[in-house]
Amino acid sequence: MKGLLVAGAGGHGKVVADTASETGRWDAIAFIDDRFESLRKMIKYPVLGKLDDAPGFLGEYKDLVVAIGDNLIRVKLLKNFSDVGFNLPFIVHPTAYVSRDAIIEPGCVIFAQAAVNAGSRIGFGSIINTGSTVDHDCFLGEGVHLSPGVHLAGEVNVGDYSWLGIASSVIQRVSIGRDVIVGAGTVVVRDILDDVTVVGVPGRVIKKSD
Ligand SMILES: CC(C)(COP(=O)(O)OP(=O)(O)OC[C@H]1O[C@@H](n2cnc3c(N)ncnc32)[C@H](O)[C@@H]1OP(=O)(O)O)[C@@H](O)C(=O)NCCC(=O)NCCS
Repeated sequence: MKGLLVAGAGGHGKVVADTASETGRWDAIAFIDDRFESLRKMIKYPVLGKLDDAPGFLGEYKDLVVAIGDNLIRVKLLKNFSDVGFNLPFIVHPTAYVSRDAIIEPGCVIFAQAAVNAGSRIGFGSIINTGSTVDHDCFLGEGVHLSPGVHLAGEVNVGDYSWLGIASSVIQRVSIGRDVIVGAGTVVVRDILDDVTVVGVPGRVIKKSD
């Protein structure tokens, strides 16, 4: 049997499981989540146990995806699960377009109606959410999250762990640093340094993190 474990049974986890199911690549899909006891009977797919129980399911579930929104935690867990022997596939919804000339690293999920164009690279454990587009020659670091309806023009760089809010967009050849938050609906027209929150049209920095 070819099984997929989805770590994290929240809203994002449900979409990841549904996306995986639509691909037809797995015979069985199940969740693990630390809220195991309360979730067990609530969702469409079985919840087998807590995150620490994962190695016990390696016989039937060799593939694993982490469906946790926090970018740092998602990447850390993916690396831990890889160390104990899980394969980390990337998962692409059948209605998404991914160029054959794009690189998608392990642990990524690409949801319905998204597109990744030629020459782009999506880093380890990144999320390309529903209807987001990544144009040609973009470079996304690890643990990036493009929320639904984000649009990146060509040759955009996004640093590790950055989160772009719903319906934000970035013009061509702009670099966004690491650990950046881009607010919903923001239009980024200039390079953005690390560790800041940017909002508005055009995007302006409103916060710096420590
Ligand atoms: C950017 C964001 C993270 C800021 O959250 P926050 O740190 O809690 O900031 P606050 O809500 O305190 O807002 C600070 C100021 O920025 C403004 N602001 C916040 N988000 C903004 C946005 N997206 N566009 C324009 N202005 C925004 C607020 O109005 C406030 O202005 P004020 O000081 O004049 O009152 C949040 O507003 C946001 O846009 N999140 C994206 C949500 C999303 O995309 N979810 C999809 C999940 S898949």
